Amino acid sequence: MSALRTYPRFVTVEGGEGAGKTTVLHALREALSAGGDDVVCTREPGGTPLAELIRGLLLDPGHEPAAPDTELLLMFAARAQHVRMTILPALERGAWVVSDRFTDSSYAYQGGGRGIDPARIAALEAAHVGIAPAITLLLDLGVAQGRERARGRDAFPDRIEAEQDAFFERVRRAFLARAQAEPQRVHVIDATRPADVVAEDAVRALTAARGRA
Ligand SMILES: Nc1ncnc2c1ncn2[C@@H]1O[C@H](COP(=O)(O)OP(=O)(O)OP(=O)(O)O)[C@@H](O)[C@H]1O
Ligand SMILES: [Mg+2]
Repeated sequence: MSALRTYPRFVTVEGGEGAGKTTVLHALREALSAGGDDVVCTREPGGTPLAELIRGLLLDPGHEPAAPDTELLLMFAARAQHVRMTILPALERGAWVVSDRFTDSSYAYQGGGRGIDPARIAALEAAHVGIAPAITLLLDLGVAQGRERARGRDAFPDRIEAEQDAFFERVRRAFLARAQAEPQRVHVIDATRPADVVAEDAVRALTAARGRA
């Protein structure tokens, strides 16, 4: 019943802060490139110069907080640009696109985290995004453990990283609800394990899906 077009070579990596998304992205890129395929790795919010500017607006703790609606619309403004300028051109020439976060993150953060009605997110998705990944790897990790990992890396938290644990618990639950609703697309990966084991699992899930692409 979804009006979204699914692209077999579109892969997204999702999960909370510090779950290991960027680490897994590198492993996926290597696995796909080893097969000789063209691979474009990208991220959200961002993925084009204009969308990266919007990312800066969203995450910069230096100005007043964005109202939830403002955050929602800026996320979708960035995504609309990202889809048209980066993702679709790459998919249309036959490349793989691997994105560090995509629309599932809006359901998790703006929906679960900020409490925006998912029906409003779905309406924006249908109107301004229009596409969906064939495979999503959801790296699942407890909030405290994710924070611990992210702390090891960032000296200063951005605006979203500065939220309380209860916010991130809602984000995690919303991600898991997405996986439960779409088990064919969303593969939950236990991200508590060592990075090489997590990466191996992610590559295995992708390879299984690749046979169908
Ligand atoms: N499975 C793992 N076990 C232990 N440490 C890990 C694992 N995966 C990644 N790390 C480390 O945890 C930190 C966060 O990993 P990474 O940057 O890949 O997460 P992320 O999900 O991209 O985070 P963010 O949401 O903040 O971008 C890094 O220092 C990384 O080296
Ligand atoms: Mg990252």
